[in-house]
Amino acid sequence: MGQLLNKTAIAILGAGAVGQLIYQQLRTDADAPLFITRESEQQQTVTFTALDGQVTESTATLLCAHSDPSLFEHIRLVIVCVKAYQVGDALKSVIDKLPKESHILLLHNGMGPHLEVAGQLRGQGLSLGTTSQAALKQGRWHIVQTGSGSTQLGPLTTPNMGRELKSRLLDAIPGSQWCEPILPSLWHKLAINAAINPLTAIHNCNNGALAQMQYRQQISGVVSELVSVAAADGVKLDESALINRVYEVISLTAANFSSMHQDIANKRKTEIESINGFVVQRAKQHELSAKLNQDLLLRVKEIESAYLI
Ligand code: PAF
Repeated sequence: MGQLLNKTAIAILGAGAVGQLIYQQLRTDADAPLFITRESEQQQTVTFTALDGQVTESTATLLCAHSDPSLFEHIRLVIVCVKAYQVGDALKSVIDKLPKESHILLLHNGMGPHLEVAGQLRGQGLSLGTTSQAALKQGRWHIVQTGSGSTQLGPLTTPNMGRELKSRLLDAIPGSQWCEPILPSLWHKLAINAAINPLTAIHNCNNGALAQMQYRQQISGVVSELVSVAAADGVKLDESALINRVYEVISLTAANFSSMHQDIANKRKTEIESINGFVVQRAKQHELSAKLNQDLLLRVKEIESAYLI
């Protein structure tokens, strides 16, 4: 069994800030995950500035979709860390090379891709996760961890992730826990993102500004719609606890600019489709109203359309 977790057992698909952070947490002197990226196959120096300011450098192996199939043979876990809207295409480009006995873990903001991915798998099991750890890119291969936080991981479809891989993840990622079922944790995180991200992007403000009275009704309304949609999807959430949690996050991250605010400020595509867009999509499925989520979705898409081609 120990043989299973040899040098190439874990691969990280996508090398954004979260992908590189998970790489750093899983890396040991003897062993490190591979990256699968769109860049050419190579050895790459990666730099990490930890929360305490300590800087380390290491050499990572990068594979790409065109790499020799034999290089994928030992992979037993693929942690997918691309943006939600890239998950389907990213996985499609490598799924045929991944061993049937490998396991896929999706770790992105928002929800939705798991519905598409379930149909792409070739016998691999699927797990989902969410993290509130934060990191920023300082350069293509240099990240700075900017916040600690919790990480929830759990199974969606069988075959389940092997015990050894599961322990390796939980031991390496600080504040991580295994949750069965996992979907309530994802809805919970979705509610926080659905309430905070679009409002900060639309009103061009930091998270703390949302504590003002003028946003109160909208925040409660967005969460309330989401709770009804989640219930219709079979996930029961505690609405008032969730609204309290949104305000707790607003206060804990008061000085931060949300990821969606930063995407708009840098004229990047946002994750709105997999945040409020997912609520709207599931609401339609259940013939429920999600008007407030729909309004935020449309407004953010309107802002994006001014710069996206
Ligand atoms: O997406 C984000 O920016 C974060 O998840 C959160 C919690 C909204 C704080 O900024």
